[in-house]
Amino acid sequence: MGKIAIMGFGTVGSGIRDIIKKQNYHAEEKVEIGHILDIRDFSGDEDAKLFTKEFTDILEDSEITVVAEAMGGLHPAYEFTKELLLAGKSVVTSNKELVATYGVELLAIAEEKNVNYMFEASVGGGIPIIRPLATCLAANRVERIVGILNGTTNYILTEMFQKGKTFEDALKDAQNKGYAERNPAADVEGHDACRKIAILSSLAWGKFVDYQDISTEGICEITAEDVQYAEKLGCVIKLIGYAECDENDKVFARVSPMLIPKTCPIAGVDDVFNAIMVTGDSLGDAMFYGRGAGKLPTASAVVADILDCLRHEGTKKHYRSWKVSDVPFMKKTEESRVSYFVRTPEDYDKVKAVFGEVNRIDAAEGTAFITPIETEAVLSEKFRALGNITSRLRMLDA
Ligand code: NDP
Ligand code: HSE
Repeated sequence: MGKIAIMGFGTVGSGIRDIIKKQNYHAEEKVEIGHILDIRDFSGDEDAKLFTKEFTDILEDSEITVVAEAMGGLHPAYEFTKELLLAGKSVVTSNKELVATYGVELLAIAEEKNVNYMFEASVGGGIPIIRPLATCLAANRVERIVGILNGTTNYILTEMFQKGKTFEDALKDAQNKGYAERNPAADVEGHDACRKIAILSSLAWGKFVDYQDISTEGICEITAEDVQYAEKLGCVIKLIGYAECDENDKVFARVSPMLIPKTCPIAGVDDVFNAIMVTGDSLGDAMFYGRGAGKLPTASAVVADILDCLRHEGTKKHYRSWKVSDVPFMKKTEESRVSYFVRTPEDYDKVKAVFGEVNRIDAAEGTAFITPIETEAVLSEKFRALGNITSRLRMLDA
């Protein structure tokens, strides 16, 4: 059916090789691997003869029509991808950093060259979400996207708060399982989820959402007490990538830990699993669920993109791409409306003086309460007036 190359033979790249060699999808669709590019030495590997350290071996091989990029990072992944697309080869990738940063340019080059740039694995690991959002939900005006978008942090939260592991041990496990980024700060500080919600938002609303414009918080400050209070509220705490588009086409996006009511379908998503809830104006809610990281689940999505490219050789699959907008369309964090669960050492009289009557939660010390839904600007002002805050968590309006 076709000859491909793989760039980067780590967790994802080796999974791509394994799935292709197993070939347990349609038997007539034979995919041959021509080259595997990696800087490490694989002379002892069963496919040692396929390995190269020279990018030009792939670029100049006219039989290679599709290349899977699983090196990660921006450089040289960007330069390699661009050269391949310009040379008329399709590229598929799991590299969300690259898609979120250079997607506009790379998609435009692919369009111009009548080849494909596909990135199903860049969000949600093995979960089909890019293609469904771009094609199956095309009849909808997407109103909101709420997602658990990072497998490592969801695994850490599950291991810490359901199984009693320390943060360090849970992170080490996630790294050993191949879930974490090379620099795991990208996971635990929320940057990886931020790039993913930027990609989903860009795709949903057709305008480049720059991840640098998205307010991002990670999971490092969540404590066992927070989790106990969440339980009291009938909620769980998850790292959420959130995006919405209002009736004036203003987009708001944010990554932060949130309290999720247990009645919400994504509350039960644990371990390395991810889930993305998309609300469309005609469809209502749809949820996409599956393994958000790991070797074979991620490679499953990459190989599907490879097959899609090979099946449509010589044609451009017209997924919706995104363009840089001429007019500002991102809503600032301060304008967004939300409610918080707050713990403070202050007494209720002080809380009432600042917030008025609020929904109080039984607290071991000080006061615990839920704020009304207000803009972040108003709430920040009130938090300043309250002074001491032990912890505060946004609540998902499910
Ligand atoms: P790994 O670090 O396991 O693999 C990357 C491989 O590429 C390494 O062998 C690395 O070698 C090699 N490499 C790096 N730079 C070059 C280069 N210039 N030329 C040739 N080879 C190079 O990463 P993953 O497989 O985990 O991730 C790959 C990409 O997929 C990343 O963008 C990641 O964010 C994304 N992703 C990962 C998922 C996962 O579950 N792991 C899931 C979804 C997406 P060396 O180690 O020597 O640097
Ligand atoms: N580090 C990422 C995660 C890999 O844990 O979700 C999948 O994108």
